[in-house]
Amino acid sequence: MAEVAYTESSQQCLRGKVVVLTGGAQGIGAATVKLCQQAGANVIFGDWAAEKGRSLEKDLMAAQSAEAGSVHFLPLDVREYSSQLAMFDLAHKNYGRVDVAVSCAAVGEPGGWFEPEDLNLETVRKEPAPTKNAIDINLTSVISFCRIALAFMICSPTTSSPNNASNAGDSNKPDSFSKSIVLVSSIAGITEAPGLFAYSSAKHGVIGLMRALRPWAPVRYNVRANAICPWATDTQILAGVRKRWVEENMPLNQPEDVAKMILQSAADSKIHGRAIYVAGGKGFDTEQGYDRTLPQWMGEENAKIWLKGQEILGLGDDWT
Ligand SMILES: NC(=O)c1ccc[n+]([C@@H]2O[C@H](COP(=O)([O-])OP(=O)(O)OC[C@H]3O[C@@H](n4cnc5c(N)ncnc54)[C@H](O)[C@@H]3O)[C@@H](O)[C@H]2O)c1
Repeated sequence: MAEVAYTESSQQCLRGKVVVLTGGAQGIGAATVKLCQQAGANVIFGDWAAEKGRSLEKDLMAAQSAEAGSVHFLPLDVREYSSQLAMFDLAHKNYGRVDVAVSCAAVGEPGGWFEPEDLNLETVRKEPAPTKNAIDINLTSVISFCRIALAFMICSPTTSSPNNASNAGDSNKPDSFSKSIVLVSSIAGITEAPGLFAYSSAKHGVIGLMRALRPWAPVRYNVRANAICPWATDTQILAGVRKRWVEENMPLNQPEDVAKMILQSAADSKIHGRAIYVAGGKGFDTEQGYDRTLPQWMGEENAKIWLKGQEILGLGDDWT
């Protein structure tokens, strides 16, 4: 499994770029907003936790160094298409461009709607609102986010970056910054996650969305797409199990560790179509192994025929 390293040059190439992010009021999103600002990017971030978002905006602007970029907060519920649109509109109005789009907002899932003690012929008559919320916030709004991001990215000017992360030190390589979408999924989007029925479905959906964008977004829009898949990270989402986790001495990411992987995928033009598992503060690409072992888990003959099918299906132009 290939380790993904965070490099200083990735920070440098975000200088002057415009980053749009959802879910930035706290946790991993807030750490990403801060890191991007320190790297000299201008960040527009939205969250429905309005008080926390405003306070973060105020703190970061007050502590702003000469090298740092700006930070703008917009209260929003990602389920409203028009609110997400307003966030991108603000970036476009203020800076005339969008270079990086990070979808980070998500909610956990309350228990009690799938368990046998709560599920009977009486309770089953009521549609479970938490499921719908979890799918709407964690998946449907992420698809909308990508659609809006691509529309804004295609009309954003391409810039040259003096310090493109993957070109650093190599003067022969072209050095234009490639625009990038980063979707925050989860380890629950790759492996089984008992009890997290809607959350895990949505996070698997986010990986599916990244895979659907992978062959397509670079060709159509010249945009890269990656998914970040954190394991246990020290934020309020983990509160219920944190004590036991720490007692058992299990690896725990800090929000900044995940933020660094978000930044690296945003900045490094070599990182595309990856699912980056973040555990114990380090990032690992799981997608490379998944692709490489296709003949093993699908069977050699199946894999060969399937690959031919993929060629026929192409980018979906002729049949979707
Ligand atoms: N913390 C972990 O262990 C962990 C593990 C795997 C994946 N993740 C993922 O990382 C991302 C960040 O999570 P976190 O751990 O920082 O949790 P968090 O709760 O601290 O952050 C999530 C943010 O999303 C915002 N949000 C939720 N619903 C929203 C909505 N409808 N509209 C606008 N904003 C909304 C919240 O207000 C919050 O600020 C999420 O996508 C989460 O699924 C976290």
